[in-house]
Parts: sequence; structure tokens; C-alpha cells
Amino acid sequence: MKEFKDLCHEARSVRRFEDSPVAPEIVNEIITLACEAPSGLNKQPWLYCIVSDHDLKNVIRTACEKVETEFYNKINQKRKEAFQKMNITIKKPFLTEAPYLIIVFGDNTAPYYVESVWLSVGWFMLAAKDKGLSTLTYTPENMECLNKLLNIDDNFIPQVILPLGYGEKKGKKVRKPFDEISKIF
Ligand SMILES: Cc1cc2nc3c(=O)[nH]c(=O)nc-3n(C[C@H](O)[C@H](O)[C@H](O)COP(=O)(O)O)c2cc1C
Repeated sequence: MKEFKDLCHEARSVRRFEDSPVAPEIVNEIITLACEAPSGLNKQPWLYCIVSDHDLKNVIRTACEKVETEFYNKINQKRKEAFQKMNITIKKPFLTEAPYLIIVFGDNTAPYYVESVWLSVGWFMLAAKDKGLSTLTYTPENMECLNKLLNIDDNFIPQVILPLGYGEKKGKKVRKPFDEISKIF
């Protein structure tokens, strides 16, 4: 078992996945751990949808790449260059490569639902890393179509798509030094 600090050091955003299978019990365990996170008024306003069906992943990828094309058409050159530098394009192969897409919705009738869901997503990411798996917080600009595709009530707002699987190995991450991100009083 890895130490907590190693999980934090090694967790990276992964955009290419192997097609090695992942046992469903592991996925369930990761989501169960993610849902140990605190939430506003303990409302636990998250809904984790687990998608492994190949056809459904294809439909989701097509819908997301359409949204990405529209998004790229309206962003400025500087933003495009920033994406280019990170190798991010309108193509989202991870949406069909990863054995699972975990789509997380937040219940907008609960207080602090966005903050609560994202806290849970942070726990999900570290729980996934602890199992030797990789993920990515993929947040296309418009995800409304996911409610229709998955038949989810409109008060649940899509927050993020998390591909989950065995991913490419990545190098050292870039983070600002402690002095730059803190002030001591
Ligand atoms: C709230 C949030 C939204 C993000 N959205 C996307 C996204 O839509 N597409 C993507 O490829 N990466 C996305 N990322 C990943 C970041 O680009 C990534 O965390 C950052 O570049 C640092 O890289 P690292 O996680 O590998 O250290 C997102 C990250 C966060 C926290």
C-alpha cells in the first residue's frame, strides 16, 4: 500500500488508457470511498453513474467531441496555444479507451452541492490512485446531454466525467512552490 504523500505526488491527469479490464468491485470500492467525503448538511448530493457499455461510451464521446468543436471555435488564440502545449485537442480518445466512464452529477437542491461533489471527486482521484488506476477530471463546457442519455432527473447537474482505468505513465508534475501559494500570518 502506498503512503498518502506518494499518492499525492503521483496522481496525474491521464488522457490515454490501456484496454486492460478493471474488476467492477474495485470501481465500487473507489466510489464508496469517494462518498466518505464530507458534504454540506451531510446531504451527500452526489450521483456516480458507472458506464462500461461500449456503445454508450461511443455515444458520449461523439456528443463530447461535438461540444468541444463548438468550444474550440469560440476560444481565442492564446487559449488554443495553451491547449496545444498540453496536447489537448477536440479528440477525446480516453472516453472510449478507458474501461469505465464515471459520470458525476450534483443535486442542485442541496446546499453547497458543487463544493461537496468536487470534494468527493478529490477523494475519488486519490482512491483510484491507491488502486493503481488513473483518471482525469474531464469537464466539457456543456454536459446537459448527459441527463438525457442516462435518464437522470434535471435537478442533478453533470459536474465531471472521470475516465477510469490503467493509464499511461506520466512524468513529474509541475506545481508552484509553497512560498508562492501561501501567506503566513
Ligand atoms: C476542475 C478541473 C477541470 C479540468 N478539466 C479538464 C478538461 O476538461 N480536460 C482536460 O484534459 N483536463 C482537465 N483538467 C485537468 C488539468 O488540466 C490538470 O489537472 C492540470 O493540467 C495539471 O496536470 P496534472 O493533473 O497531470 O498534474 C481539469 C482539472 C480540474 C481540477
